[in-house]
Amino acid sequence: MQITLAPMEGVMDHHMRQLLTAVGGYDLCVTEFIRVVDLRLPAKVYRRLSPELYNNSKTTSGTPVRIQLLGQNAHCLAQNADKAISIGSDGIDLNFGCPAKTVNKNKGGAVLLKSPETLYEIVREVRKVVPEFHTLSAKIRLGYDDKSLAIENAQAVAEAGADEIAVHARTKEEGYRPPAHWHWIAKIKDTIDIPVTANGDIFSVDDARRCMEISGCDRIMIGRGALATPNLAQAIKGLEEPNSWAEILVILKKYLFIQTMGDQEKYLPSRIKQWLTFMKLQHPQAAVFLQQVRKIKTTQEMLAAINKEQLSIS
Ligand SMILES: Cc1cc2nc3c(=O)[nH]c(=O)nc-3n(C[C@H](O)[C@H](O)[C@H](O)COP(=O)(O)O)c2cc1C
Repeated sequence: MQITLAPMEGVMDHHMRQLLTAVGGYDLCVTEFIRVVDLRLPAKVYRRLSPELYNNSKTTSGTPVRIQLLGQNAHCLAQNADKAISIGSDGIDLNFGCPAKTVNKNKGGAVLLKSPETLYEIVREVRKVVPEFHTLSAKIRLGYDDKSLAIENAQAVAEAGADEIAVHARTKEEGYRPPAHWHWIAKIKDTIDIPVTANGDIFSVDDARRCMEISGCDRIMIGRGALATPNLAQAIKGLEEPNSWAEILVILKKYLFIQTMGDQEKYLPSRIKQWLTFMKLQHPQAAVFLQQVRKIKTTQEMLAAINKEQLSIS
């Protein structure tokens, strides 16, 4: 089984990757996307997004980190893939699933799913600069408005030379509305001969088991579920029980500690609140706690609130 920590722009940054991979169970991380328009971006842009590049493209606990690129210009994406590889990225991931309006207006992300030919051209150009011993992967949704091109898109990606594909089992139009259509991943998997990673709505050990059963995949990618239950990957691998609320509070404090060592301290209370909105998907206590801390503006106050919550449940 291989478990990937999903890319999540504005949420799954290098601090969060560091924390969650230290909790354990993740075999790979994909970075938040870097948007490529018409320039070969300088190394500093890549290193800011992924300081893991200073550590052989691994988190401090040793999990490989792959840079994700988003754009529509095949030539420019290839130039940037070349750059990212040359400064040490563990392969390249291409984003063909982003639903954001601004991204799609500029013909990046999910809008490309309307044109399997464009996906083919992009993957083929990028493959030319990503040597075979580096992985080239792509992440797709099942389509833009509907699923009619799901299989054709996946075939285009595979035929153009990608090594792997991850499928978020929803169309762009379906956004993040449940359910994720895992049986569609099985249909895709039947028609291509590269490894397929199943993604979408895995929040528990049971979800992971059902997703693998229905999709036929032994590779899964987890985003919101990893934020809701930090040790979900360990639990899926049968190594630990899923985190309790008391354990999560300890992890929140670790996050405060990691972050205060960086340069992001002023955003910290908002980041904790953002994280709690994902946690409340699985833990009702997180919803109550979020109400209690919603006006907090400083790290000290947030720490005091976590301490108080810990005392109240001990
Ligand atoms: C806030 C947010 C940001 C995201 N950013 C990215 C991104 O940068 N690149 C990408 O490929 N997918 C992105 N996604 C999609 C996730 O990687 C994932 O496919 C989706 O959340 C479904 O998986 P999950 O149910 O495990 O969360 C994002 C999702 C969310 C909610």
